This record gives sequence, structure tokens and C-alpha cells, in this order.
Amino acid sequence: MTGDILTARGVRKKYNTGSDVVTALDGIDLSVRSGEFLSVMGPSGSGKTTLLNCLSGLDQIDEGQVVVAGADLNLLSDAKRTRHRAQHMGFIFQAFNLIPVLSAVENVELPLLLAGTSPGVARKAAASTLERVGLGHRLQHRPNELSGGEQQRVAVARALAGRPSIVWADEPTGNLDTETAAGVMDLLGELHCQGLTVVLVTHDRALAALTQRSIVVRDGRIVSDAASGVHPAPGSSPGVVRAQRLPDDTAGAPDTAGTLEAGQ
Ligand SMILES: Nc1ncnc2c1ncn2[C@@H]1O[C@H](COP(=O)(O)OP(=O)(O)O)[C@@H](O)[C@H]1O
Ligand SMILES: [Mg+2]
Repeated sequence: MTGDILTARGVRKKYNTGSDVVTALDGIDLSVRSGEFLSVMGPSGSGKTTLLNCLSGLDQIDEGQVVVAGADLNLLSDAKRTRHRAQHMGFIFQAFNLIPVLSAVENVELPLLLAGTSPGVARKAAASTLERVGLGHRLQHRPNELSGGEQQRVAVARALAGRPSIVWADEPTGNLDTETAAGVMDLLGELHCQGLTVVLVTHDRALAALTQRSIVVRDGRIVSDAASGVHPAPGSSPGVVRAQRLPDDTAGAPDTAGTLEAGQ
């Protein structure tokens, strides 16, 4: 897929808290090219999470337009928007949000089952996606039997299992130590190199520097938008940026993973 996977124009979002009105997004214009690796930086409370939620259609906007993978999200009914998200988008959160009583493979297959995939197909897809993120040996483990880095890899697999074209990651390394965070960043970098579009919210300048382009949000506005360096620009030949990993996180890393079937 070429061209823009995301176009946002004049996006505004306010929160009403009874006595107070908070302007969380104050006129956002943003285009993201298919295959881009974009980081979103900014101080706490600047609107990063609101931006991700509004661009992905998890939250309603008050003004403007958001087009993702060819659909104007705010013209879709709730049911169609949910289906569009399931078909085109994956989500990774700081808190992993895994279901504690389900095994790794059950966590990954759950969204597929909810989207109507048959159990046999969902199980195979979940298992192969866990293999792709280096967790083929942890299919039956429950979240509390996995390290933080492994839990976030399960969450990455869950985001990828539906073969999305864009993945939204909100501070995905915020609960991880530096070395484990580097392993998760490596994984996101590899997925980007295999064609996935990744939008990553991070506080960490060093992690933003590992992406291709970085925007800075302040008071609900984009105040800076610049190439951040090490990942190649769209259209140039991909390369992988390697961050340091602990031995713990290196086991089964997806160095030999197959080509990601993203962008379709
Ligand atoms: N559900 C909500 N209700 C009221 N205010 C909110 C809500 N979510 C976020 N806000 C406010 O919107 C602003 C942006 O928040 P957020 O997008 O979470 O920032 P960030 O992710 O950059 O820390 C903040 O002032 C926050 O307090
Ligand atoms: Mg946030």
C-alpha cells in the first residue's frame, strides 16, 4: 500500500467535566504515510493519548475529519467503525491489558474470535503471531507467568493477529525497564521494516529517536514535526535499528520471523 494511511484535518476535542471544559485537541492536522514509523512526544497532559484515541476512532471528535485506511471514521456508524478498527488497526497499551485468566494464545486469539473468525483459524493465527514475536514457547503461559517484556510481546502479538495496516502504541514501554523496553522497540522497528505503519506515543526522547519521524504535542497542538533519524524514509530501502537487549529478552527474538502480512 502506498500513500497516506491516515489524514486528519482540523481535529478538535473537548472534555466536559461538569464545572470545567478541557480542550484536549486544538486543531490537529496530520498525515501519516503507509509504512511510516511515527513517534508522538509531549509533556504529560498535552493530549497524546487523546490524539491516539481520536485518530483511531476509539473516541469521538468534536470538529474536523479523520480518514484512516480509506474511511472517514466519523461518518461510520458505531458498529461499522468498530469493524473498521478490527480490520485495519491494532492497539498496544502501557498496561499490556492482558486478561489474567487467559493463556498467551487465548489472549491473542480473543479479538479474532470476537471478530467472527472460526476457533481453529483463530488459534492457528494466534500461535503463529506469538511465534513471530518470539513467544512460540510460551503459548500456554498466563500473564502472571510471563516477564513484563514477554507480556508486552503478547500484547504486540494480539495487536498484530488481525493483520492490521496500522498499529497504535500508547507508551508501550512505560512499565518496562530500559533494557526490556529496548527489546520491544526492536520488535516495533522490525515490524515497521516489514511494512507496518506504527504510531508510538512515548515520553522517552531516546526511544523517539529510534523512529523515523517525531511530532511533539503541546496543549493539544502539534508544535513540531521532524524526521527523527535512524529509520529510513518511506520509499527508501528498509534497515533495522538494533537496540540493546537483555539475554532474557533475546530468547526467541523474531530475527527469523516471516514477512509481516501488513498493509493489505
Ligand atoms: N476523559 C477525560 N475527561 C476529562 N478530561 C480529560 C479526559 N481525558 C483526558 N483529559 C484531559 O485532556 C488533556 C489531555 O490528556 P491526555 O490526552 O491524556 O494527555 P497525555 O496522554 O499527553 O498525558 C489533559 O488535560 C487531561 O486532563
Ligand atoms: Mg497519555
